[in-house]
Amino acid sequence: MQINRTYTSRGTSIDVASIGAFGSQFADKMFVMKYNEGLGWHDAAIRDFEPFVLSPASLVFHYAQEIFEGQKAYKWEDGRIVLFRPEMNVDRFNKSAERMCMPVIDEEFFMRILMETTWENRDWIPQKDGYSLYIRPTMIATEPVLGVRPSSEYIFFIINSPIGHYFSEGYKPVNILVSDGYVRAVQGGVGEAKTGGNYAASLRIMKDARKKGFTQVLWLDGRENRYIEEVGTMNMCFIREGKLVTPALTGSILHGVTRDSVMVLARHMGIDVEETRLDIDEVCRDIDSGKITECFGCGTACVISPISGLCFREKIHTVDGGKIGKITQSVYDYLTGIQYGKIKDDFGWIREVTELSG
Ligand code: COI
Repeated sequence: MQINRTYTSRGTSIDVASIGAFGSQFADKMFVMKYNEGLGWHDAAIRDFEPFVLSPASLVFHYAQEIFEGQKAYKWEDGRIVLFRPEMNVDRFNKSAERMCMPVIDEEFFMRILMETTWENRDWIPQKDGYSLYIRPTMIATEPVLGVRPSSEYIFFIINSPIGHYFSEGYKPVNILVSDGYVRAVQGGVGEAKTGGNYAASLRIMKDARKKGFTQVLWLDGRENRYIEEVGTMNMCFIREGKLVTPALTGSILHGVTRDSVMVLARHMGIDVEETRLDIDEVCRDIDSGKITECFGCGTACVISPISGLCFREKIHTVDGGKIGKITQSVYDYLTGIQYGKIKDDFGWIREVTELSG
């Protein structure tokens, strides 16, 4: 399919100092294409970043048939522009689409769209460590009908946002509130799909958590309210007796690209890795006894976020004095080193974006 260029904006350079809160500023071009049952995907275009005109009856507004992805483009010191493991996002997007009864996008074409949109917005990629261009591919159901059923029309779009750190604290240890009562997802639900409803469901307790001074909420499983699942914007990792342990993918947890990368890097660094069930009571005991020496969250937006403590049932369990752990720091340095072109990528994760792809 041809990708038309209909934009009028001429691009502008991004001033790193002017980058505000995560995702609050947008590059001036976006990718858009439409889908109609019987016709498939059509009208692919890179156009000006501008509002959509949608019927108020569009299915997305009523029954939340929506999916998205999060990934980043980096501008290296030598000017090269790269994406990090974009195939994993493409694959996860299509899996989310299947779960939410939405049309998939041909993987090769998806990669082309990512490359071309990133290239067109290349002047918006901040060239500085810790900064990047956040890429948000999204699909929404647009058929104007109030019956509860899959839409026969969709819009797929990609918007780009120049960003720095996800948390206002920057790369600093954060305290997390463990949810005791509210749940995010259950097995058989849509927890492993990247769909807006999962995030909407997290807002109530997140607001309470923020009021109490916590940065994020850690969810327990929806059945027994006992096993650690994930934090709303990141997967969880602990260092227990020198081993990296992380909750297994049980069907209600997001398949994190950063989670997978962290496990690969840890193994490469000679650290044992285990995906397992983590009982919250046991984890709190292990933190208090010093068996667990480090804790961090990982995700595309937040990269690696050191966690100083977990608050469960009004008690704060501080991990090793609340400082950034050695392994956490090494994994962070290795991962960001590859992403920013400072360390050789021995894993085949980096994809260069060039003019040829445009
Ligand atoms: C990401 O890490 O890219 C995410 O999608 C989390 C987001 C909701 C900020």
